[in-house]
Amino acid sequence: MTSSPARVHLIAAARPNFMKVAPLWHALTAAPDFQPVVIHTGQHYDAAMSDDIFADLRLPAPDYHLGIGSGTHAEQTGKVMIAYEKLAMEDRPDWLIVVGDVNSTAACAMAAGKLRIPTIHLEAGLRSRDRDMPEELNRLVTDVLADVLWTPSPDADANLLAENIPAERITRVGNIMMDSYELVRPAIEAADYPGELGFAKGGYGVVTLHRPSNVDVPEKLAELVEALIAVQAVLPLIFPVHPRTRQRLGEAGQAKLEAAGIRLVGPAAYIAFMSLVSGAAAVITDSGGIQEETTYLGIPCLTLRDNTERPITISEGTARLVKAPALLTELKDALAQPKQDRKRPEFWDGHTAGRCVEDLRRRTAV
Ligand code: UD1
Repeated sequence: MTSSPARVHLIAAARPNFMKVAPLWHALTAAPDFQPVVIHTGQHYDAAMSDDIFADLRLPAPDYHLGIGSGTHAEQTGKVMIAYEKLAMEDRPDWLIVVGDVNSTAACAMAAGKLRIPTIHLEAGLRSRDRDMPEELNRLVTDVLADVLWTPSPDADANLLAENIPAERITRVGNIMMDSYELVRPAIEAADYPGELGFAKGGYGVVTLHRPSNVDVPEKLAELVEALIAVQAVLPLIFPVHPRTRQRLGEAGQAKLEAAGIRLVGPAAYIAFMSLVSGAAAVITDSGGIQEETTYLGIPCLTLRDNTERPITISEGTARLVKAPALLTELKDALAQPKQDRKRPEFWDGHTAGRCVEDLRRRTAV
């Protein structure tokens, strides 16, 4: 007897979600027993922050677009809850998969939880233990509500067990971001975005900044601008500027960085951005995912944060936590380290989506 494929809602909301959703969509599409349905909440909406990345990752246009847009945390979270609840009541899935830690992740987990839709959190268990970070609250809420927790690393398993989440709900699947990289590796290797900008491979650093804790406090941002200008004197920098950061820097801040020679560009799509990162001598960032991508690629990562929910990028990877005044010294030290043949963390291998589908099949059969 053949039964109809299980319908799986995949929530794609903001830029860092798309490279987690894409490998799952491809793997579920290839599996006859599952039917993925892509729901874009519209948390990120600019072409450069959304459509261009969908295209790079060969994702189709979303099946549904909730069109939520920007707002305060409560506005955004509330609007996603209302819109997703309505959709899930009209087109109830067998499973909901939410990824990462953005407002839409927690909002959809909450709406689905009340409807008793079985929910999976991909990238579960990460903890910065810093409740000033909105994403930390989203992680805590999502993990306590999810029926199944797919984790990227052993520290995430340990965090969940310490929060009394039953072991049978947890499956370590590995880091799905690496699947996206492997999915389009030939295109990344063929692209030469650094060359287009006039930089040679290995002859530049990449900067990304967008965390509210760095860019929303004017004194903190001014300190970072000075630190980047100091670095520029030893390593030319390319800085794809996030919309939040562009607003906070203003014309004056951008002009100051450019006057020092730092190359400011707009947000890059996935293939262009990974071509920048993979050719860089070092990366300076406050992003979550880039800490992981640099560990995978063996490139030094100066993480401009007080803490990280991804400690494995330090213990088994190439990252170090850095504060603005120490940036130049730490960068020189990182560049002076001999390049080691590092082992990548277990299950960061491009096969995470396959492990997800296998686990989903096992749990669907029960
Ligand atoms: C959000 C996520 C964060 C993630 C980041 C990646 C939460 C709480 N935060 O933060 O976890 O690391 O995305 O980018 O969910 N804007 C545009 N175009 C867009 C999207 C936003 O111009 O497509 C503007 C907004 O109007 C806003 C600013 O950029 O003023 C910041 O966007 P917002 O969605 O508030 O948060 P992010 O900082 O992007």
